[in-house]
Amino acid sequence: MSKVLLIASDHAGYELKNSLIDLMGTEFFEDLGPDSDKSVDYPDYVKKLINEMKIDSNKKGILICGSGLGMSISANRYEGIRAALCSNSDMAILARKHNDANILVLPGRFIDVNTAKLCIDNFLNTNFEGGRHSRRIKKIDL
Ligand code: RB5
Repeated sequence: MSKVLLIASDHAGYELKNSLIDLMGTEFFEDLGPDSDKSVDYPDYVKKLINEMKIDSNKKGILICGSGLGMSISANRYEGIRAALCSNSDMAILARKHNDANILVLPGRFIDVNTAKLCIDNFLNTNFEGGRHSRRIKKIDL
């Protein structure tokens, strides 16, 4: 299977990133770092991941920081990016159905690895509903 999912974190998301890779398999993810829990700046990893998505638009992304907030705020500044911060699996379903999210953001300090995995499963396996949600998404870009 090709690596469908880009994943990156900051230091506060490093542990969950590693736990997810251990649980789901290295073949599943393209790990964009960091390689340790040494302090880093989350916008640098947002940029790295979105640059990869621009190269291959079929790829989706996972970003993890401590609260998920910094990664979300930063990622959503990029054109065409809809990054959804999810702390449970139902939110991940809605992020796809209603928001056509192309990045799932996880809060490393506030979610366990099994819930995070369920979020990823739902993020990957749920389709956008379109219809009225397309109209709303078109209104997001200013
Ligand atoms: C790092 O301490 C923390 O600020 C960061 O991971 C994130 O939660 C920021 O929004």
